[in-house]
Amino acid sequence: MTEPTGAELGKKTAAAMALGHVRSGMALGLGSGSTADWFVRLLGERIMRGGLDIACTATSKRTETLARECGIPLRALDDFDRLDLTVDGADEIDPALDLIKGGGGCHLIEKIVAAASDNLIIIADESKLVPVLGAFPLPVEIATLGWGTTMRRLAEVVGDVPLERRGGNDPFLTDEGNYVIDCRIGSIDDAPALAAALSAIPGVVEHGLFLGMASRALIGSPEGTARDVRKT
Ligand code: 5RP
Repeated sequence: MTEPTGAELGKKTAAAMALGHVRSGMALGLGSGSTADWFVRLLGERIMRGGLDIACTATSKRTETLARECGIPLRALDDFDRLDLTVDGADEIDPALDLIKGGGGCHLIEKIVAAASDNLIIIADESKLVPVLGAFPLPVEIATLGWGTTMRRLAEVVGDVPLERRGGNDPFLTDEGNYVIDCRIGSIDDAPALAAALSAIPGVVEHGLFLGMASRALIGSPEGTARDVRKT
């Protein structure tokens, strides 16, 4: 594995710190994105060295593929009653450890897996820490059926919402075959109210606000140190 530098080193260092929370016998959720990829690679190396007996479930096809390459044992989420721990990345983390996720379009499964977990540890480089959520466009996954109607309802809540995320020449489709609308809202003053308003729109499958779900955030620096950030 080539040694990373800068933000990438921060991601790897945070992932390494998260590995310290993994114990034999655990059921583990594997997040998605470039930071979660570091965790998957390091976990795979740890398993290869021996002595770590765990069962994992992946939050995306991409993570599933990487985990298999790394020799990590995978099972379907439905094979577990509960997960002990999920380790995942985030696009924004506020001081209450509320999150915006879904930059990779995996937030539907990520949220289902996080909700099934006793603990959600977020790993990230320092750029993800923000005083207030909302500078990152909020991903909202919507069903393709009736998408025009859903977009109009969505616009009533968050303003104009172009269908601009692309997957090649076509609109981006999630692993579950839905569109993702990236809503440029700006500072989100009342995240619970926004989350409730979005969830109430028929056709909205899931939004990227993860409120009250993370138990801790492990933040890596470009110098290769990591710190444990707790809720304030
Ligand atoms: C995917 C996610 C990712 O965790 C989030 O986008 C962070 O990704 P990265 O670690 O590549 O910055 O929510 O849906």
